[in-house]
Amino acid sequence: MKRLLLFLLAFVGLSAQSQLVSGPMLGPVELRDAVIWVEVGPRTKSVRLQLFDPTIGIPKPPARVVHNNMGWISYKGPLGNASNPIALRIPDLQPAKTYHYRILLDGKEAAIGTFTTKDLWQWRKPAPDFSFLTGSCAYFNEPVYDRPGTPYGGDSSIFLAMAKEKASFMLWLGDNWYYREVDFFSATGLRYRARRDRAQPVLQPLLKAMPHYAIWDDHDFGPNDGDKSFVLKEESRRIFLDYWPNHSAGENEQGIYTKMSYGDVDIFMMDDRWFRSANNMDELVDGTPNAAKRMWGPQQMEWLKNALVNSTATFKIIATGNQTLNPKARAECLQDYPIEFNELMQFLAAEKITGLLLFTGDRHHSEVIRYERAGTYPLFDVTNSPLTSGISRVSGDEKDNAARVSGTLVEVQNYTRVTVAGPKGARRLQTEFLDISGKVLATWSVSETELKAR
Ligand SMILES: [Fe+2]
Repeated sequence: MKRLLLFLLAFVGLSAQSQLVSGPMLGPVELRDAVIWVEVGPRTKSVRLQLFDPTIGIPKPPARVVHNNMGWISYKGPLGNASNPIALRIPDLQPAKTYHYRILLDGKEAAIGTFTTKDLWQWRKPAPDFSFLTGSCAYFNEPVYDRPGTPYGGDSSIFLAMAKEKASFMLWLGDNWYYREVDFFSATGLRYRARRDRAQPVLQPLLKAMPHYAIWDDHDFGPNDGDKSFVLKEESRRIFLDYWPNHSAGENEQGIYTKMSYGDVDIFMMDDRWFRSANNMDELVDGTPNAAKRMWGPQQMEWLKNALVNSTATFKIIATGNQTLNPKARAECLQDYPIEFNELMQFLAAEKITGLLLFTGDRHHSEVIRYERAGTYPLFDVTNSPLTSGISRVSGDEKDNAARVSGTLVEVQNYTRVTVAGPKGARRLQTEFLDISGKVLATWSVSETELKAR
């Protein structure tokens, strides 16, 4: 009888676990609240989250609720669909405190985890030293639908190396999954891809280890080199929102651009697809930049300008899918959209924006590009790619690109560790490209004193 009881208990426990499709993943973790994301299976009837104090032990319902005025967070939205991505927001937290949580599916524990809220350093102490991770281009093979021949996806164990980093967050720079030909023209196909890739076991430790923020590029928006004309872009945006619980997504239901901050760094997370004109549209009309050919679009550009001027951050990072400053780019680049490139350059100079850097992905290699500007400090574009998708070696006249910072080219799978540290007035931002085992392949750094507008 006792054996039967144990068997039944084990079975119930397993079935709760099996309903957990992916996650938990940490979304934004702020000073007073945090978002925990999970996806559950179609049979799940209820999803709840509970904070607990491990020194007291895991409470059994009805629990001794350690965190007062909250207790359980119960998910109130729809369930029972083929895909059930869920974001649970935990309110009323305290800054700089570690919390333990558990996820219950149909009353049974399916996962436990921890997170630490941000410190309230402003007006009290120096900006914290910290590091974060970034990267782009993640491809999980699915041979039945992949291109025939050599698999495009590489060694996924890179995500295990990343999970071991003591980083404050991970910033996904686009092509975070790859829609395929079988997915492009069906909403369920798009949703299948996001669900399948997110559920890969090798990804789970990273999802749980740190907060995640993301922008998209062409492959997790729609077809290769996709633009504003993609017919399922509305559905694609809904899926992005369902799978990435960023602070916000564009304005007026348009785009996915937003901003996040950590310490004295602001990151302006751009959408290079929603408003984008076709790559092959003429750059020039009668010898002057074509005003109709835009990558970010007027609405987003207006937002970016205001957000940059509004920012007091030491380092202001514009994160966008495509490279921005590379004169030799043999792929999509902001410079192919001269009306916007010129507008951005003129704005940065006129407003004397300090501390500006650009972070990009997409290229299937990593490098740092230096862009000289007359009368003011040079800009740098840190390109981070690929996490697991195929390598694209630089070729032709891009091989000896004079704009590339010497020693920064990486042509193997890699992720980036960004470290921001130092005393006020001499803060330094360092980027390291690391291989699948976490070994440093290239390092570059810049001081805030080198990024002062003149
Ligand atoms: Fe891309």
